[in-house]
Amino acid sequence: MNPFELYNPTKLIFGIESYLRISHEIPKGAKILMTYGGGSIKSNGVYDQVLAQLKDFQVLEFGGIEANPTFETLSKALDIIRSEGITFLLAVGGGSVIDGTKFLSAAAYFEGDSWDILKKGIRVSKAMPFGTVLTLPATGSEMNSGAVITRKETGEKLGMGSPALFPQFSCLNPEVIKSLPQLQLKNGIVDAFTHVLEQYMTYPIGAELQDRISESILKTLIYIAPKVIFEPYNLPIASNFMWCCTMALNGLIQKGVPTDWATHMIGHELTAKYDIDHAMTLAIIFPNLWRYKFENKKEKLAQYAERIWDIRTGSIEEKAEFAIQKTVDFLHSIEVKTKLSDYTENYNGFSDEVKKTFEARNWIALGERKDITPDDVKKIVERSY
Ligand code: NZQ
Ligand code: ZN
Repeated sequence: MNPFELYNPTKLIFGIESYLRISHEIPKGAKILMTYGGGSIKSNGVYDQVLAQLKDFQVLEFGGIEANPTFETLSKALDIIRSEGITFLLAVGGGSVIDGTKFLSAAAYFEGDSWDILKKGIRVSKAMPFGTVLTLPATGSEMNSGAVITRKETGEKLGMGSPALFPQFSCLNPEVIKSLPQLQLKNGIVDAFTHVLEQYMTYPIGAELQDRISESILKTLIYIAPKVIFEPYNLPIASNFMWCCTMALNGLIQKGVPTDWATHMIGHELTAKYDIDHAMTLAIIFPNLWRYKFENKKEKLAQYAERIWDIRTGSIEEKAEFAIQKTVDFLHSIEVKTKLSDYTENYNGFSDEVKKTFEARNWIALGERKDITPDDVKKIVERSY
C-alpha cells in the first residue's frame, strides 16, 4: 500500500429529515446565494423545503446553472456574489450545480481571470464557504473537493480542485430520487460504478481493505441498479443508491492505491464535443480502455472477475476477458448503450481531434503506469466507435 494522507472535513447529513439541519449549519448573519439548476427543484418541492429552512437569513438566488455547468453562466453568478456582498453559498442540485458552486467558491476571492483556475490548474487556498443539498446521486461532488467546468466559447471541459473546496456540509435526502427521470437514475449508477473502477482497475498493491470496500460498492450497485432504475421508488434502495454514489468518490477508496482517471479525461471530450451525458461517455470508453490496456490490468480484472462476477475457472486472461464481457452485459441489462455510434453518427475524425487536444494540453502519460499516450487515446476512442 502506498503512503497517504486522508482529509475530508465535509459533514454529511443523511436521511429524509436532513433539511431540518440546514439552518444550524450556516453561520449566523450569513448572506446566502442559493444556486440551482434549470428548475427541477421547483417542480419537486425541494426549493420550498429548503427555502423554509432559510427564513432567518438574507437569501439571494441564482438559478439556471445548466447540466455540465458553463463558465459563461457562472460568471454572471460571480458578479452577483461580488456586488451583493455574499458570504455563503448553498448549492441545491446535482453534480452540475454543486460543481458550479465550487467554481464560484474558488473564484469569489480569486484575483485575476477566474478561468485560469481551470486552465492553469490553480489550487486556490481561500474559498467562500458553501453547503450543498444533493438532488441527484451520481458524482460524489457533495463530499469531495473537485469540480468540472465547461467553457462554451472554446469547447473545453476541464477539472479543478483544492482542499479548500470541500462542502462544509451536505444534506442527503434519498427521497429526491423520486422525481428523477430514468435516464438520470442510469447516469447515477454508471457514474458511481465507473468512479470505483477508476480507483480499482489498475494493478494489485496489497491494499486489501481498499479493494474490498471498492468491491462492496460495486456489488451493492449491481444489486440495486435494476431496482433503482426499473422498479417503483423504495426508500431503502434509494438510500443505498445515494450512499454508494457518495462513497464511490469521497476520497476514501483512492487512498494508498494507484488510480487511472483516463476514462474520465477522454469522456469529458465526448461531452464537450457531442453533449453526451457524462456517465454515458464513461460506459462508451472504459470497456475499450480495459481491452486496450489488458496486459496492465489483467490481474485486477481477474480478481474482479472472481469477487464480483463469481468467475472461478480459467486462466487469469480468460477470467479477465470474461469479466469485461460480464460488465458490458451488465450495462446493456440496464439499457445503457456502450458505443459512440449509438449516440452520434458524426464520429469520423473525432479520435484525431482528441489526440491533438491531449497533446496540446501535454496530457501525454495517463493511466496508473503513466503509459497511455495521446496515440493510445486515439486508438481507444477508435475502438469505442
Ligand atoms: O437543472 P435541473 O432542472 O435541476 O435538472 C437536472 C439536470 O437536468 C436534473 N435533476 C437533478 N436533480 C433532479 C433532477 N431532475 C429531477 N429530479 C431531481 N431530483 O438532472 C439533470 C442532470 O443534472 P446534473 O447535475 O448535470 O447531473 P450529475 O449529478 O450527473 O452531474 C454531472 C456533472 O458532474 C460532473 C460531470 O462532468 C458533469 O458536468 N462530475 C463531477 C464530479 C465531481 N465533482 O467530483 C465527478 C464526476 O466524474 C463528473 O465528472
Ligand atoms: Zn464521473
